[in-house]
Amino acid sequence: MVAFNLPANSRIGQGQTFAAPADAKQAREFRIYRWNPDDGQNPRMDSYNIDLDACGPMVLDALIKIKNEVDPTLTFRRSCREGICGSCAMNIDGGNTLACLKPIDEVKGAVRITPLPHMPVVKDLVPDLSQVYAQLRSIEPWLQADSPAPPDGERLQSKEERAKLDGLWECILCFCCSTSCPSYWWNGDRFLGPAVLLQAYRWIADSRDERTGERLDALEDPFKLYRCHTIMNCTDSCPKGLNPAKAIAEIKKLIVERVV
Ligand code: SF4
Ligand code: SF4
Ligand code: FES
Repeated sequence: MVAFNLPANSRIGQGQTFAAPADAKQAREFRIYRWNPDDGQNPRMDSYNIDLDACGPMVLDALIKIKNEVDPTLTFRRSCREGICGSCAMNIDGGNTLACLKPIDEVKGAVRITPLPHMPVVKDLVPDLSQVYAQLRSIEPWLQADSPAPPDGERLQSKEERAKLDGLWECILCFCCSTSCPSYWWNGDRFLGPAVLLQAYRWIADSRDERTGERLDALEDPFKLYRCHTIMNCTDSCPKGLNPAKAIAEIKKLIVERVV
């Protein structure tokens, strides 16, 4: 359901300011979205000024420094610190990306950080991913085959068959793409969005999977697939350099090819 007016309790106010240490050599401001579901207050932007001379180079380094040294209440997800787990996805300087892969010096002026857009917020920079994970579950992202596996259990692929999965298997499910897609913003309850559709194509393209027809049947739907209008925001935002818009186009092509 589309809502065009923000409810009063979602208006973002100005929060606290934390000054840089007096001896800071390279002070830099980070304006960070804060919201606590337990205090009944509106969201706010807190301003943290830290010394980059005593901080690692990435935005995630600054967030960890702020949490460890300035404000332990700041809440965000992170795990691997090297672009593998997908958990530190957030909006930095107006674009969705991974905090651990975003160099601070790529941002001019104050570094503005908010949660992934158009998702419910659990707290501060943590989005509620329940819906996207339910959508991922709906495409059954695992290998399905009725024919018996060879005695050693290995279902082999040729090099060419395996190459068709390149550009798909690398997806880390960070959801930077889905949360930058205008169609997903408006119809996220019924459109599966680029991340889940790329995962769907990953199994459609797998030569070992024997459910291609059923998988295409399940996607042939005006909302699940065809809300994609090829705007390409998804591909522009992928921090792993993947092309979900192309994967969606391949699914549409296969659906057309099987009826002509
Ligand atoms: S190409 Fe499709 S999925 Fe990607 S941003 Fe545009 S509408 Fe969304
Ligand atoms: S396609 Fe890229 S942006 Fe989308 S979920 Fe996968 S890794 Fe993240
Ligand atoms: S912390 Fe794992 S991708 Fe950033």
